Amino acid sequence: MSTTHIDAGPGDFAETVLLPGDPLRARHIAENLLDRSQQVAGLRNMLGFTGEYRGQRVSVMGSGMGIPSACIYATELLEKFGVRRLVRVGTCGAVRDDIRLGDLILAQGACTDSGVNRQRFGGMDFAAIASWALLSRVAEQAGRQALPVRVGNVFSSDLFYAVDPKLAQRLVQMGILGIDMEAAGLYGVAAACGAEALTVLTVSDHLPRGEALPPAQRATGVDAMIRLVLDALTSASG
Ligand code: HPA
Repeated sequence: MSTTHIDAGPGDFAETVLLPGDPLRARHIAENLLDRSQQVAGLRNMLGFTGEYRGQRVSVMGSGMGIPSACIYATELLEKFGVRRLVRVGTCGAVRDDIRLGDLILAQGACTDSGVNRQRFGGMDFAAIASWALLSRVAEQAGRQALPVRVGNVFSSDLFYAVDPKLAQRLVQMGILGIDMEAAGLYGVAAACGAEALTVLTVSDHLPRGEALPPAQRATGVDAMIRLVLDALTSASG
């Protein structure tokens, strides 16, 4: 049973799927953080794997970059493969002074300049929010590990290379913690499918300060974030 974009079979995916943007990050997670992982999908090189973490079945699959790509994979996973929970694990840019490279952000809500959620919601503004169950689990796990996290609104932009010179200022004014390109779309799909979704982000760039995490630190930071998410999802409490 292949779908248009996922060449996997029934039961190949676990009910919980981590979604990094980069399919090679999905392979890295499968090979280094999961036990007994097997590749289950690879159409267009969008790699998907299923394995175990602490004895519990978990999958990981690339989502690609941007809301349209992420929505394609999220929709097919939820509608056709029996997936119930999607956790995007990615990086984001920051605009606020009080956010530093490497900070962890739990996207409680996601604003966007994309029209996808208005299309879903008859032209009205949809409040794209994370699943409270997933958000609280990850926040509690971070507390147990004494790992500081920021919880709040992010902004999912359609353009990586923004054209509006006032955008950063507006985002600061509205308390936006980070800019990604997928969270708002993912939350819309999850709502439409009656499923749970969460986005967890490592700050990789600070736009006004012109800073970026060096590649090695970026990889270490993202791995730590993914371990946090896996620990949270498979912990006995919660
Ligand atoms: N903008 C959008 N997405 C991102 C960024 C950014 O600056 N950094 C990492 N992902």
